[in-house]
Amino acid sequence: MNTIASENTGRPVISSTGLFTPEESISNEELVEAFNAFVDRHNAEHADAIAAGEAEELQHSSVEFIEKASGIKSRHVMNKAPIIDPAIMEPRHRERSNDELSLMAEIGVAASRQALERAGRDVADVDAVLCAASNMERPYPAMAVEIQQALGIDGFGFDMNVACSSATFGIQTAADYVRAGNAKSVLVVSPEITSGHLNWRDRDSHFIFGDVATAVLVEDASIAPAEHWDILGTKLKTVFSNNIRNNFGFLNRACPESQGSPDKLFVQEGRKVFKEVVPMVAHMIVEEAERLGIDPKALRRMWLHQANAGMNRLIAHKVLGHEAEEDESPTVLDTYGNTSSAGSIIAFHQHSGDLAPGDTGLICSFGAGYSAGTVFVRKAA
Ligand code: COA
Repeated sequence: MNTIASENTGRPVISSTGLFTPEESISNEELVEAFNAFVDRHNAEHADAIAAGEAEELQHSSVEFIEKASGIKSRHVMNKAPIIDPAIMEPRHRERSNDELSLMAEIGVAASRQALERAGRDVADVDAVLCAASNMERPYPAMAVEIQQALGIDGFGFDMNVACSSATFGIQTAADYVRAGNAKSVLVVSPEITSGHLNWRDRDSHFIFGDVATAVLVEDASIAPAEHWDILGTKLKTVFSNNIRNNFGFLNRACPESQGSPDKLFVQEGRKVFKEVVPMVAHMIVEEAERLGIDPKALRRMWLHQANAGMNRLIAHKVLGHEAEEDESPTVLDTYGNTSSAGSIIAFHQHSGDLAPGDTGLICSFGAGYSAGTVFVRKAA
C-alpha cells in the first residue's frame, strides 16, 4: 500500500483557480453620465406630477460619492451599451436556443478551463462540478450539469445559491466530498452575471455590481499539483435578514401587482448591512482562527468579500489588530465592483502568487442571507 497516498486521502486542498473577466467595463464617469441623463429625462417627463407633489423628483448620482462610499471606480459587464443607454438602463442579451451553450455556462466554462489548465488537470479525473452563484439563468437543467457537459466531465453536478457566500459554501461542500472520500476533484464555479439583477435606475445601488466568473479546483491532496493551498478549516454561518433581498421568482412572474416593483431586483438597506455584518464576520473569523489554533493577528493575507472598501477596512482591522495594508487585505473592488460570490476568489486568484510556502491566509465571504463563510488556507511547502 502506498503510505503517502493513504496519509493524504481525504485531505482537501485548493489546487488552482481560474478567472474570466468580461472585456467591456463601465467607469463611474460613464455610469453617472447615463444615470443623470435618465434622471433628467424622467424629471422632465413627470414635471407636472412632481410640481403637484404627486411624484418624487429623482436626484443625480455622483462619481465622488460612489468612490468614497464604496471604493468602486469601474465594473466589468457582459453587455455595456444598453446599460449606459438612458432609454434602456439594463443589459439586453439575445435569447440563446437550447442547443447553444447558455451565457452563464459559457463564462463558467472559461473560468473552469483556466483552473484546470493551471492545475494540469485532465477532465477525466474531475468528479463533480458545483455551480455556486447568486442567481441562476434558469431553474433547470442545472447550470452545473451544462458546464460539466461542456467540459467533458464524467461525474455529477448541481447548483447552489447562498448569494455572496456561494463560493465559500461551495468550497466547503467540495472539501466535505473530499473529506468523506466521495470525490477527489471538484470544480466550484461561480459565474456571476450580477448586471441582470441590479436596478441600474436606483441611485442607491446602481454602482454596486459587476460581472465575472471564477472557478476553484478543490482536490484531495493525494492528486493535487505540488503548488497548492492546504485547506486548514472551513466554517459557514447564516442568520436570516431582509436587509439584502431579491424577490424575483416564478411565483410572482404572472402577478400583476408585482410587475415593475423594484424589489424584483436587488434591494438593500446598505447602512444596516454594514453595521450588522462587520461585527458578525470579524467575530466569526477570530473565533474560527482560534479553533484552528491560528493567531488571527499573524494572518499573512485576507482575501475578503469585495462589497465595500470601508467594510473590509473595518473587518481587517478587527481581525489583525491594526489598519491593514493593501498587501494584507488586497482589493479588486476598484476595477471589478462587487461581483457577489466571486469577489474574494478574484482577490485570491490575483493576489496569492507572491506568498511563500507556509504562509497562512483567509478567504472570506459575506452577504445576503445573511451568510458568511471562511476558508483558512496555507501555501503548501
Ligand atoms: N450619488 C450621490 N449621493 C448618493 C448616492 C449616489 N449614487 N446614493 C446615495 N446617496 C446619498 C444618500 O441620499 C444619502 O444622502 P443624505 O445623507 O442626504 O440622506 C447619502 O448619500 C448617504 O447614503 P447612504 O445610503 O447612507 O450611503 P452609505 O455611506 O451607507 O453607502 C453603500 C452606501 C451601499 C455603498 C454602503 O452602505 C454599503 O456598501 N453597505 C454595505 C453593502 C453590502 O455589503 N451589501 C452586500 C451586497 S452583496
